[in-house]
Amino acid sequence: MAYALEEYILAHIDEEPELLRKMQREAHVKLLHPTMISGHLQGRLLKMLVQMIRPQRVLEIGTYTGYSAISIAEGLEGHAALHTIEIDEEMEDMIRHNLSHSSFAEQITLHMGDALEIIPRFRDEYFDLVFIDADKRDYWNLYETALPKIKSEGFLLADNTLWHGKVLEEPESNDWQTKGIIAFNDKLADDDRVEKVILPLRDGLTLIRKKK
Ligand SMILES: C[S@@+](CC[C@H](N)C(=O)[O-])C[C@H]1O[C@@H](n2cnc3c(N)ncnc32)[C@H](O)[C@@H]1O
Repeated sequence: MAYALEEYILAHIDEEPELLRKMQREAHVKLLHPTMISGHLQGRLLKMLVQMIRPQRVLEIGTYTGYSAISIAEGLEGHAALHTIEIDEEMEDMIRHNLSHSSFAEQITLHMGDALEIIPRFRDEYFDLVFIDADKRDYWNLYETALPKIKSEGFLLADNTLWHGKVLEEPESNDWQTKGIIAFNDKLADDDRVEKVILPLRDGLTLIRKKK
């Protein structure tokens, strides 16, 4: 999105809460890939989608700093819960620190480890909404692992599905992330188990609804 248009949008939507603004600033100072954070616009959208869907149980795959987890939690009703999974142990202290400074520490459970191993351990536990925002090389595997855990008519959001427009190009032979996103989009397009819409927000957010 053109920078001026993005500025315009941010000036005309709800403000980013102070804690999230601080988390973004800290990420830019301390982390190598701060742009992985959902950010102001997508954070407000996540909150709004959660308010619309009114899920009781949400699963997030890829916590990073906890920015999107807190944005999702903002939209949750009182007794609803968010489980978030992060593989990178070096992020754990920062995540726990950020969650503890939010008003949602009680509603958010952090699981450290590989989502591909952790999700199958949620035996007889199902989710109304899953947000996939992890390793692009594993998107299809993550989706297939999460789908059985989504309730009938539940929702799944997959982030970065336009991958800065790279989905339109022939990927380099070693560009496994672009290949992962292209494979995910192609397989999802043919997947009759779900309905899907791609929003061209940031670098693409796919909204998916599991059919009855
Ligand atoms: C794009 S960042 C997440 C950003 C975060 N959702 C936000 O918007 O603020 C992706 C994160 O997924 C984590 N990750 C990658 N593969 C994973 C896996 N298999 N299981 C759990 N976490 C994973 C990475 O370590 C990284 O912190």
